[in-house]
Amino acid sequence: MSSSSQTLMAGIQITSFIFISSVLIHTCSADVDIYSAVMPETVTALTGSCVQIPCTFNVSNFEDKRNEAKSINGIWLKKTSKFAYDDSLIAFNSSKNIIRGFSDIQMTGNLSERNCTTVFYNIMMNHSDLYYFRLEMEPNGFRATFNPDTDNSRKTVRITVKDSPQPPELKSTDLEVMENTTVNLSCSAEAPCPKQPPTISWSNIPESAHITTQLQEKPDKTQSLFSNMTFKASYMDHRKNISCNVTYPRKTSKDSTVETTVMLQVRFSPKETHITVNPSASVSVNTNVTLTCKSKGSPSREMNFTWYKRGQEMPIAQGKKTSLIVNHNNTGSYLCIAQNKHGKQSSAEIQLTVEESGFSQRVIYGCTGGLLAFFLLSAVFFYCMRTKTSSQAHVIGRDQATDKNSDMVAVYANSSIATSKKSEKKETDDLHYGEIDFSKLQTGDMTREHSNNGPQTEYAEIQVTGRNNKNQKC
Ligand SMILES: *[C@@H]1O[C@H](CO)[C@@H](O)[C@H](O)[C@H]1NC(C)=O
Ligand SMILES: *[C@@H]1O[C@H](CO)[C@@H](O)[C@H](O)[C@H]1NC(C)=O
Ligand SMILES: *[C@@H]1O[C@H](CO)[C@@H](O)[C@H](O)[C@H]1NC(C)=O
Ligand SMILES: *[C@@H]1O[C@H](CO)[C@@H](O)[C@H](O)[C@H]1NC(C)=O
Ligand SMILES: *[C@@H]1O[C@H](CO)[C@@H](O)[C@H](O)[C@H]1NC(C)=O
Ligand SMILES: *[C@@H]1O[C@H](CO)[C@@H](O)[C@H](O)[C@H]1NC(C)=O
Ligand SMILES: *[C@@H]1O[C@H](CO)[C@@H](O)[C@H](O)[C@H]1NC(C)=O
Ligand SMILES: *[C@@H]1O[C@H](CO)[C@@H](O)[C@H](O)[C@H]1NC(C)=O
Ligand SMILES: *[C@@H]1O[C@H](CO)[C@@H](O)[C@H](O)[C@H]1NC(C)=O
Ligand SMILES: *[C@@H]1O[C@H](CO)[C@@H](O)[C@H](O)[C@H]1NC(C)=O
Ligand SMILES: *[C@@H]1O[C@H](CO)[C@@H](O)[C@H](O)[C@H]1NC(C)=O
Ligand SMILES: *[C@@H]1O[C@H](CO)[C@@H](O)[C@H](O)[C@H]1NC(C)=O
Repeated sequence: MSSSSQTLMAGIQITSFIFISSVLIHTCSADVDIYSAVMPETVTALTGSCVQIPCTFNVSNFEDKRNEAKSINGIWLKKTSKFAYDDSLIAFNSSKNIIRGFSDIQMTGNLSERNCTTVFYNIMMNHSDLYYFRLEMEPNGFRATFNPDTDNSRKTVRITVKDSPQPPELKSTDLEVMENTTVNLSCSAEAPCPKQPPTISWSNIPESAHITTQLQEKPDKTQSLFSNMTFKASYMDHRKNISCNVTYPRKTSKDSTVETTVMLQVRFSPKETHITVNPSASVSVNTNVTLTCKSKGSPSREMNFTWYKRGQEMPIAQGKKTSLIVNHNNTGSYLCIAQNKHGKQSSAEIQLTVEESGFSQRVIYGCTGGLLAFFLLSAVFFYCMRTKTSSQAHVIGRDQATDKNSDMVAVYANSSIATSKKSEKKETDDLHYGEIDFSKLQTGDMTREHSNNGPQTEYAEIQVTGRNNKNQKC
């Protein structure tokens, strides 16, 4: 029994010696091997897309170790640095290209050049975690997990997975600018996976815009897609929504386009100044005409308007609108000047005229006037025939009237009848006066008729009067 217990004791001693020495050896090698890694603290990945972890490392005497080693393996551990634990996961082992929990992982960096850059493909929500890098140089070379728990120079990376992309960041030198100043707009979007970079598109691009787009590396070596637009602010860009759209290639039907919009405020002197006239620039007398001065300017609140009439030095009115009752004295050329603190602009002149009557009215006047004259002349003709000549002459007269209507109108209107009526006019009332004026209308002078009264009602009176007179006379 004693001998057996002795051998047992010896066995324990040997075991503990081996254990202690192995700890010593391990501690020794740990002291010797200084190692570090550089990678971003966090990367934000998008589901259905890929994510690149930029990664470099260093190990003391790395060149020697590398030259001695037959192989160098890079390993990514998920959740914990203790890969032997149950809840840990060896997501990737470059040695046998083991991939667990991911559809694909590629170490794109060359480990022999201390580059452990890795791309994780087809990211899913459950990939959100902390990841540890481990290096193994075989055989009997350096083996260590770059665990930051014990040394600040050993970094780890957290992959944060999002289901929808982050809207791009849109920066401007200044969003409130004077016309013609150069504006720089910079739209930047995260590019978590430069292997499958997003694309940027702009909308409402100013005319003079110059756009450059490129991937740029941030200090933590992750990348962003920058699209910079430089343009000269035009008044046309005022209050325009300029937007930057970013589209991510994704293996999912989820929204892959996000947009950010800015509105530019451009300050400028009045532009496109012009006058609108209501109802029209050619109206009958006594019409209330409203002139409106339209202009684009910024700031528009502070814009004021001044009205001028050609031939008058002083402004005739202030304000966006001005109204006037048209008469023969206030016809002429009008213009307005729009002004804000950045300058002023004059509109083109508009011509305000008195229109005697519309085309259709003129046609009605002409036709009915002609008819009336015809009746009038015929009546006079018959009257003369009855008093002076035979029934044969009567027939001829009628033929002449139909054949050469216009000639006869001219002859009678200008000479005998007109003069004979004029003598009546002075003695009698307005109706007679109207009659005389009407015969003048036939020869083309329509002006006075209108300036006195409403044209259409007056005409009706003339017609009736003319017939009545004739009937009475006949
Ligand atoms: C790697 O580390 C060694 C010593 O620790 C240092 O001399 C060397 O410059 C480092 N190399 C790089 C690329 O950082
Ligand atoms: C990685 O794979 C190699 C080769 O199969 C193996 O020897 C090594 O133990 C693996 N590393 C880990 C951490 O599983
Ligand atoms: C994530 O979920 C998918 C399916 O839902 C599964 O195949 C994969 O193994 C999971 N990955 C991890 C790292 O848990
Ligand atoms: C590491 O490798 C990646 C992928 O090949 C490359 O883009 C990157 O420039 C490399 N980094 C260094 C520091 O060489
Ligand atoms: C990695 O780098 C080493 C040393 O610079 C070079 O010999 C080797 O060809 C590289 N491997 C790859 C896959 O580029
Ligand atoms: C801006 O440029 C336009 C076109 O070159 C010019 O007509 C305008 O006067 C300029 N405006 C200012 C405020 O300089
Ligand atoms: C705007 O961008 C242009 C060209 O990239 C540059 O020359 C200019 O200095 C920039 N202006 C400002 C205010 O950043
Ligand atoms: C930008 O994206 C929005 C949706 O977010 C879309 O309605 C719009 O048409 C896109 N514009 C461009 C220029 O792609
Ligand atoms: C774009 O603009 C940003 C911010 O002004 C600047 O940091 C970046 O260098 C610019 N990129 C290019 C390609 O001009
Ligand atoms: C003319 O019309 C304007 C707008 O309808 C009105 O404000 C103004 O009082 C009118 N003028 C007259 C004299 O009726
Ligand atoms: C038009 O002007 C003349 C002379 O200036 C004046 O006698 C007349 O009363 C004015 N008529 C109207 C309608 O204003
Ligand atoms: C119109 O605005 C300008 C600039 O804001 C100012 O200098 C001017 O006095 C204003 N004119 C009137 C009549 O208010």
